[in-house]
Amino acid sequence: MSTVPLKPLPIRGVSPSNQRGSYWITTFGCQMNKADSERMAGILENMGYKEASTELEADLVLYNTCSIRDNAEQKVYSYLGRQVHRKRVSPHLKLIVAGCVAQQEGELLLRRVPELDLVMGPQHANRLETLLNQVENGQQVVATHENHILEDITTARRDSSICAWVNVIYGCNERCTYCVVPSVRGKEQSRTKEAIKQEIDSLALRGYKEVTLLGQNIDAYGRDLPGITSQGRRKNTLTDLLYYVHEAKGIERIRFATSHPRYFTDRLIRACSELSKLCEHFHIPFQSGDNKILKEMGRGYTIERYKRIASSIRELMPDASISADVIVAFPGETEQQFERTLSVIKEIGFDQVNTAAYSPRPNTPSAEWPNQLPENVKIERLKRLNLLVETIAKKRNLRYKDRIEEVLAEQVNPKDPKQLLGRTRTNRLTFFPSIGSKGLTYKPGDLVKVQINEVRSFSLSGTTIL
Ligand code: SAH
Ligand code: SF4
Ligand code: F3S
Repeated sequence: MSTVPLKPLPIRGVSPSNQRGSYWITTFGCQMNKADSERMAGILENMGYKEASTELEADLVLYNTCSIRDNAEQKVYSYLGRQVHRKRVSPHLKLIVAGCVAQQEGELLLRRVPELDLVMGPQHANRLETLLNQVENGQQVVATHENHILEDITTARRDSSICAWVNVIYGCNERCTYCVVPSVRGKEQSRTKEAIKQEIDSLALRGYKEVTLLGQNIDAYGRDLPGITSQGRRKNTLTDLLYYVHEAKGIERIRFATSHPRYFTDRLIRACSELSKLCEHFHIPFQSGDNKILKEMGRGYTIERYKRIASSIRELMPDASISADVIVAFPGETEQQFERTLSVIKEIGFDQVNTAAYSPRPNTPSAEWPNQLPENVKIERLKRLNLLVETIAKKRNLRYKDRIEEVLAEQVNPKDPKQLLGRTRTNRLTFFPSIGSKGLTYKPGDLVKVQINEVRSFSLSGTTIL
């Protein structure tokens, strides 16, 4: 894949196509979807659409959907209900379903909701303008075929002006037996390091301070790119990429997600401890504390390996925060196996864990297995797990009490305009007054020293020391 030079954008207000009406995007799902939505919003604005003030007024409504669990998928149908009703009275309304449910359902979505104008999978996000032109020519469009994702030549319309997502690898080649992602996001496709660096440099020029490199399995970065070192090692690994982008002037913090324990290397851990902008937060899902379940999930590691990764991180970065994803009530999971998950959570002491009860998904092997667990077991295990996660997170948070932390101010607290909110390097949400104790005024984008005086399970509050 070659780097495509940035095309000059049409100047707003002069373009003849600048009378398109208003748009509304609702995003479900993960950071990948959020990043896609920001790119699609950028495309719409370049086409002349303006952001609507409410969903029910918009001339174009786009739902960027998630299919990871059944409840995520069902949400879009209830949202669509309202819009279908509107479309019957305002036929000019354009209705679009993008993202993972669109990819999974394709044509079926049109049959179920004939009012839709466009159904587009995640690999087509950068093609929104072309697809909309087809809609304007009177077609009903389904774009779900496998597609090489072209380098994004538009400017994303980003929600934050301080922190930005940067895709580094699309798709996933793993075959976890419960997971819908490979079938909806397609094969892995890495962007070149030059294209990534160019995007980060241009973000820095526009005043961004933090970037999060994104991939469903970010450790796979570069596998599909050429290049071998003289020692026979792949040249373009995630670790190499981190060294390559680290010097971007103006960027203060770099994060990455999501890591896969199967590929997480010691070399990567060393790089994170050496590179000053790399934040000490690692999101490494472990899914289950039981080796037999891990094997049935097709995860390709044992819980012992996972624990070794966590202790290597803490050896080099003792204060690092570690978060994870966990699934409870996977088919056949016994009480004892579930308790192994609880033990791992206690033993490692996670800062945060995203938890979910297993949900059988279309086109995944484990959905067909006969040993599915009943709903009441799912609910009961999830409850117990969440209680433990909260207790441990709160305990972990106590270490911040009275400490001075560097916080990157991201925005004014929407619930209290006298406060700013931001995150510590370890990704803890932190609130503090925008006027400092010695009269200094802080604004989003500032790196602020905050003395922590209040600790909750998932957030902190403090006062500035200057
Ligand atoms: N690529 C990441 C996570 C992808 S999806 C990884 O490999 O870990 C985000 C999380 O959703 C997963 O970590 C998993 O915990 C959860 N998840 C995925 N499929 C699920 C399913 N069928 N039921 C319940 N949770 C699921
Ligand atoms: Fe899904 Fe596994 Fe890929 Fe993560 S690594 S996106 S859980 S298939
Ligand atoms: Fe959901 Fe698709 Fe992300 S299924 S979790 S939005 S990759």
